[in-house]
Amino acid sequence: MSEPDSFDPRAFHAQFDIAMIVACSRNGVIGRDGDLPWHLPEDLRHFMRSTKGCPVVMGRKTYESLDKPLPSRLNIVVSHSMKDPGLTGVMVVGGLDQAIEVARRAIDEGEVGAPIWIAGGGTIYTQMMARTELVVRTLVDCVVDGDASFPDLDPELWTMRTSFRVDADDRHDFGFEIEWWERISAQK
Ligand SMILES: NC(=O)c1ccc[n+]([C@@H]2O[C@H](COP(=O)([O-])OP(=O)(O)OC[C@H]3O[C@@H](n4cnc5c(N)ncnc54)[C@H](OP(=O)(O)O)[C@@H]3O)[C@@H](O)[C@H]2O)c1
Repeated sequence: MSEPDSFDPRAFHAQFDIAMIVACSRNGVIGRDGDLPWHLPEDLRHFMRSTKGCPVVMGRKTYESLDKPLPSRLNIVVSHSMKDPGLTGVMVVGGLDQAIEVARRAIDEGEVGAPIWIAGGGTIYTQMMARTELVVRTLVDCVVDGDASFPDLDPELWTMRTSFRVDADDRHDFGFEIEWWERISAQK
């Protein structure tokens, strides 16, 4: 998979302070029973490439859905109940303001690079939508049931900068489109 010509996603992402990354179905579903409703290796690769070396903010349930903390990133887990696991690259904070503060400090101190990625799940996307300048959305060609979702993007507030398509094949049950949406007031 390669992105559209003359578009360097990592350089583009680094211009933003807070960005969101998500994969959702045509009906807005992002998760089911604590897991993803699909297996899309190229989308996972896109997620890993995009977020590498950056702070990644996530809810406690999303953190628990991972096999292990995301490597080469600062995992910032938001929770009222979770104890700090004492693992390198993982911090637990009690709220989203604190998560953003910790991430900004780590960027300022050169430990990680911009942007601050908001990586779900549904409760975190909803709370952070108003503070986000960029949404990198994978729109999966399916309609599925689930218990976590991503809100629609209001066309009055968001404009698509570019997109890139991956078709279904023997490794991917569904085709998908990766879309880069900028908040209209944040256009660079
Ligand atoms: N498709 C995708 O791109 C994508 C991305 C991420 C996740 N997912 C999926 O989404 C699902 C999980 O999403 P979810 O919405 O159920 O859960 P979630 O947002 O990952 O986690 C919810 C938990 O986060 C903590 N939390 C949320 N807001 C908080 C706040 N303001 N202050 C302190 N703590 C806060 C609470 O933890 P405590 O209960 O410990 O207080 C809450 O129970 C899974 O199925 C996962 O696979 C999909």
